[in-house]
Amino acid sequence: MENSREKTQKKPVRLIAAVCNDMGIGKDGHLPWKLPSEFQYFLKTVTRVSRPGKMNMMVWGKLCWFSHPETLFPLANTLHVVLSTKLKKVPDHAHFLSVDFESAVRLSAEPPLADLIETIWVVGGMQVYKDALSHPWCDLVYLTDVMADFECDVFFPEFDRGVFKLQERFPQVPSGIQEEDGVKYKFQTLISQLVCDHLSEMENSLEKMERKPVRLIAAVCNDMGMGKDGQMPWNLPSEFQYFLNTVTRVSRPGKMNMMVWGKLCWFSHPETTFPLANILHVVLNTKLNEVPDHAHFLSDDFESAVRLSAEPPLADLIETIWVVGGMQVYKDALSHPWCDLVYLTDVMADFECDVFFPEFDREVFKLQESGYRHDYGTMLTDADGSRWEVEVVNVYQPPASSLWTHKSSLSLL
Ligand SMILES: NC(=O)c1ccc[n+]([C@@H]2O[C@H](COP(=O)([O-])OP(=O)(O)OC[C@H]3O[C@@H](n4cnc5c(N)ncnc54)[C@H](OP(=O)(O)O)[C@@H]3O)[C@@H](O)[C@H]2O)c1
Repeated sequence: MENSREKTQKKPVRLIAAVCNDMGIGKDGHLPWKLPSEFQYFLKTVTRVSRPGKMNMMVWGKLCWFSHPETLFPLANTLHVVLSTKLKKVPDHAHFLSVDFESAVRLSAEPPLADLIETIWVVGGMQVYKDALSHPWCDLVYLTDVMADFECDVFFPEFDRGVFKLQERFPQVPSGIQEEDGVKYKFQTLISQLVCDHLSEMENSLEKMERKPVRLIAAVCNDMGMGKDGQMPWNLPSEFQYFLNTVTRVSRPGKMNMMVWGKLCWFSHPETTFPLANILHVVLNTKLNEVPDHAHFLSDDFESAVRLSAEPPLADLIETIWVVGGMQVYKDALSHPWCDLVYLTDVMADFECDVFFPEFDREVFKLQESGYRHDYGTMLTDADGSRWEVEVVNVYQPPASSLWTHKSSLSLL
């Protein structure tokens, strides 16, 4: 049980549908309307992934699947699960058959697909929409309001509008009323209040603390690999020096930064690395009973490490919370509302790795072409004839844009 939970990667479950007045969605196995641009929006939405190589899972009821023309397939960046208790084999163009919604979710969230799939898109019909709306991972409903009457024999299920709240605007969702073929419609997004409550609870408790910038620093090779057998896969002394310079920089003498380490990451560093100037170290682990040599604190989870830095007695001392890996703590930090920068060294070469930098939304964390570089310098290749080189330090920064963009990335994780 413990094991299977560890292997499960939570995926956002999202519904997408178009409904007319009376919440009708279909008639005689087909859409009751012809709205080509609305359909294009649907395709664009479900095929969007954060980076090449990633895929989404589309979950289809059987009738819904067979009502779509074969010419629609293949669809970019998508794998398809058809739900049926009666079909005996996977229909043409589909990839999987599941007997119920939960099996389709598990398929996407467990190995071997867990690392590939980003979002589970539920595309109808009625029963699978119903199942998805009550799923704990369901965070968003993309509901196009077709503002007209159509005769329908299938309807979008009832849902609690106290739980799913309509958003005024939403990233990548056009606002305003659209019109096609004399039919008016608008794209809408509803967000699960359960997700919102969780976020605002977290924000409320954070408000009482002294906000500290949470910053990630990592070096990744092609494929976003960052480690092998508990070690760095490369030996780049000047890159390591840059890392040390960055994390130990404080605005004035007497100030310190907090470095947050996963346990494996901590023990993979030679003792000679320590002590580091201007740094207090927190090691994250639930099993260690004692603070390891050279470290200063042990925390059960990332949030506790943040609290430690942001509440008395350390709040006045600590300037920046530097997150130095591994994978889980990077993941936690990326979804933290105080996370403002990712310092990512792009090691432009292939290395065999068994640990990877986690997925993140490049719409939220945007690559800075310049601006930071003059502050922190451009990395030079170590001049020892090695095949690899580190040319540029990529600094990612989220746009100063809406909280929403940030929140939606939070719900992804
Ligand atoms: N407007 C929109 O956005 C929109 C979106 C989607 C669909 N539609 C319309 O809706 C209609 C199709 O929807 P529908 O509700 O009638 O049919 P459907 O859900 O596509 O297909 C029903 C069949 O799919 C299987 N199935 C569905 N959910 C399942 C689940 N949770 N677990 C196991 N099997 C499941 C069952 O097959 P077995 O009997 O083999 O077990 C069931 O009999 C069409 O008119 C379509 O155009 C409209």
